[in-house]
Amino acid sequence: MSRPGPGHVRGVRLLGTGACLPRRRLANTDLMTMMDTTDEWIVQRTGISTRHISDPDAGETTHDLGANALRDALVASHLSPNDLDLILCATMTGENNCPPVACMISQRLNAGRCGAMDLSAACCSWVYALNTAAALVKTGAYNTVGVVGVDRLSKHVLYSTEGRSTAILFGDGAGAAVIKATDDPSKGIIAQSMHSNGERWTDIFIPWQRRDIPSELEIPDSQIGKVHMNGAAVFKFAVSTFPDLIAETLEKAGLRADEVDMYVCHQSNARILKAARERFGLPEDKLYINIDRVGNTVSASVPLCLHELRTAGKIKDGQRVMFVAFGAGLTWGSSLWQL
Ligand code: UT7
Repeated sequence: MSRPGPGHVRGVRLLGTGACLPRRRLANTDLMTMMDTTDEWIVQRTGISTRHISDPDAGETTHDLGANALRDALVASHLSPNDLDLILCATMTGENNCPPVACMISQRLNAGRCGAMDLSAACCSWVYALNTAAALVKTGAYNTVGVVGVDRLSKHVLYSTEGRSTAILFGDGAGAAVIKATDDPSKGIIAQSMHSNGERWTDIFIPWQRRDIPSELEIPDSQIGKVHMNGAAVFKFAVSTFPDLIAETLEKAGLRADEVDMYVCHQSNARILKAARERFGLPEDKLYINIDRVGNTVSASVPLCLHELRTAGKIKDGQRVMFVAFGAGLTWGSSLWQL
């Protein structure tokens, strides 16, 4: 693929995808032995029945999961790690603050001297990373980018009654996609958006020390290093923001909701997804849900759905697909593709 010259407009193809879920499953019935909760409460409030929990001592660190997902995506793309110009890793739960998880993934895959960096926008990270990667390819700066989404929220959750409102929600996992330049300018992003409201950062955050916690919030020492979430406020935000984001993206693209073949949404809560589907009168099979099996996997959520849909033959070249996410920050973002 040549670099674009004057007047040459290139497109962007979404090639292969990959995923990696930790071996251990934690069912609602397992959680019932650790905390005061019930399968019925969890299923009714969230739609989740089980999630995967990683064991870093058994080869399931954040970079292990991310590397496995990207390796699969490269195989599915018929490319080798050396073909990558850049690895963009969407995550907020790397083992270390430094180096970037993307560099550790690069080392695992033997990806040579390609660029490697992390991008953090909580549950929106992968959608933000995809928009960023696609823009870099579209301009001709890079040809081939691996976009990984990986998180291990289990290390920031208390598996006891004290942490039950978040322990039930989150699961670990990784998903990845490879994007590549094409001479067909019709392929790539049709419309996208990235938003935030920093005034609401305390709605979901992970404090490292007491001074990170605003004085008006009462958080015991046992919850330092653990995810703190105002679940009801986030739920309310999401129920209105999700459909508004879809509407905004459709308007930018000049498309109706039924002209998009598939909506691949962050799996935060089945009730939030159902509300978005109903607002646009979409049939059930157009807004994919896998939260029942994997929970909320943060940055991995959207690429995991994409991988499942792609391998099931439900997302194909030629279709229009919208990726949608929201999360801590608060952040929200979308990416509408012509595949
Ligand atoms: O991707 C990141 C974005 N995050 C989200 O999208 C999360 C959005 N929020 C939610 O999904 C919901 O707020 C939750 C599922 C987290 C919680 O559901 P809720 O209906 O908002 O429950 P709540 O936090 O208002 O709690 C209601 C009651 C409380 O008891 P009292 O005070 O009414 O007696 C909680 O202590 O439910 C209790 N509760 C539980 N009971 C059984 C909280 N967690 C549990 C639990 N099992 N696991």
